[in-house]
Amino acid sequence: MQIGVYSGSFDPITKGHIDIIERAAKLSEKLIVTVLNNINKNYMFTLEEREVMVRECVKNIPNVEVVTFQGLLVDFMKDKGITLIYRGIRAVSDYEYELAMAFANDEISGGKVETIFIPAKKKYMYLSSTIVREIAMNGGNLSLYLPKNIEKKVEKKVKSKL
Ligand code: PNS
Repeated sequence: MQIGVYSGSFDPITKGHIDIIERAAKLSEKLIVTVLNNINKNYMFTLEEREVMVRECVKNIPNVEVVTFQGLLVDFMKDKGITLIYRGIRAVSDYEYELAMAFANDEISGGKVETIFIPAKKKYMYLSSTIVREIAMNGGNLSLYLPKNIEKKVEKKVKSKL
């Protein structure tokens, strides 16, 4: 079976992530969405909270599974016999980081994994969880960027932090 992984921090999951998940799910028989910790980031939501949010957003896509994982993505993939990584790519500014990660994953897996970049839809080209958090912390409208259920959770989280 052709299985792919789509990994991210999802802090929080946005409409842009969901679009990539829907499209990646069509390209593989099964898609595993891995919710990971990026050591360079301070998160608004815990790993468990992010996992719950992702689960809620993909519950109607039958061939998508959601897991959390601590460690190297390629170790998780080796363990499960998976060789395909999907990454969404937005504006040119993503490219350096994404390319570095794709090269690193290729090298540390001994050439076993392949990364496929899926271009973000034009309307999501400049959408990021970072922008969403910034708008949220300043009381802005998030409905363009987040599904309703996630918008509510973000608003609740912001209130708890004030
Ligand atoms: O949503 P993000 O923060 O861009 O996702 C980055 C993430 C979590 C996918 C990336 O940091 C990751 O894969 N972390 C796990 C550790 C790892 O395998 N790193 C790749 C070697 S550079």
